[in-house]
Amino acid sequence: MLTGRRLLLAVTGGVAAYKSAFLARRLVEGGAEVKVMLTESALEFVGPQTYAAITGSQPHVALFGEDMVSPHTELARWCELAVVAPATAATLGKLSAGISDNLVVSTLLATKAPVLIAPAMHTEMWEHPATRRNMETLRGYGYIVVGPETGALAGGDEGIGRMSEPEAILEAIETALTPSGPSLRVLVTAGGTREPVDPVRYLGNRSSGKMGHAVADEAARRGHMVTLVTTSALPTHPAVKVVAVETAEEMLQAVEGTPADVAVMAAAVADFRPTTSGAEKIPRSQGLESIPLSPTPDILASVVARQPRPVVVGFAAETGDVERAVEKAKRKDVDLLVYNDVTEPGSGFGTDTNRVVVIDAGGGTEQWPLMTKSEVAAKLLDRALGMRVSDRP
Ligand code: CTP
Repeated sequence: MLTGRRLLLAVTGGVAAYKSAFLARRLVEGGAEVKVMLTESALEFVGPQTYAAITGSQPHVALFGEDMVSPHTELARWCELAVVAPATAATLGKLSAGISDNLVVSTLLATKAPVLIAPAMHTEMWEHPATRRNMETLRGYGYIVVGPETGALAGGDEGIGRMSEPEAILEAIETALTPSGPSLRVLVTAGGTREPVDPVRYLGNRSSGKMGHAVADEAARRGHMVTLVTTSALPTHPAVKVVAVETAEEMLQAVEGTPADVAVMAAAVADFRPTTSGAEKIPRSQGLESIPLSPTPDILASVVARQPRPVVVGFAAETGDVERAVEKAKRKDVDLLVYNDVTEPGSGFGTDTNRVVVIDAGGGTEQWPLMTKSEVAAKLLDRALGMRVSDRP
């Protein structure tokens, strides 16, 4: 897998730089041709000779004054994959803003090769809004992100921010170098349906559509064929086919017309709609004591019933405990159910973050930490796209 592959390893200034020497060694042992770039601050943690001895070639440090005429463009064109490990907060910030004031950032901006980053920093820095925003931007550029993990940090601290172990990074490198599998047909529903009472008013809910849009965008970035059936006007990745709908009935029609290998049903579909909605606005003077309601179609059930059956991911925004959602996953017969408690801070409607529990078809639960909706989307797709319906218990 690694034999003869041209890998560029960028090491930036964090204590995890010592682990990157081990990574370089594993890559070389695997048969890869490895070139290394070090930032000035990386030199505070590791010496160039370490990497020279491991890789057999002198690491590159400077943008100017080296043997090469234009080191950043030469390295950028040479590599098949660039790996930044560790990636410090400073480098992530410069990369996301395009500030190419050193060899590492200049080369990464100049390359057309995929870029994999393994962030490492203190918890407070990782959780700072600036870093979160930078990560969001870098994911948007299509960068592959590995870690960070929770564990021991520099100076005896503990928390999230520890660079992933070399073995985990190695695995991600191998995956990135593996020709990607077939492009899948991914169907996503998003937003809250609006059921008309009259031409002016509707019954609706507070779903913003952010979670479903994040899933659609991430699937498109991975090269899949994505159809997003949504009530939300949020912007989307240019490759996403958007079908705009308002009501549950329209959403059902759009979903029924869309073939899918994987269906991610993130929409908050109204369970009931006004039985009648006239062409005329109901005047206030007329009064309205009650609105007769009829049930809406269960869109998810129609997808679950398809033959052949796609992998189906449902969502459950609840206010109760997870047991209700585990029961719902069984009742709805989904492959995965993403449960979140909308009353929890950071998990409600319209937020950019979510804290979810993912329930599988066997009733197994996995609590994920508070993450941005893009991060949840990426992790969810890692699981759902790798599933086969035949894997069901
Ligand atoms: N869903 C759907 N069509 C509906 C209702 C729900 O496709 N008419 C999907 C949602 O997109 C979500 C999942 O089903 O993925 C669960 O939605 P939820 O509203 O929690 O399910 P309900 O069956 O309405 O459950 P409850 O009894 O809690 O209202």
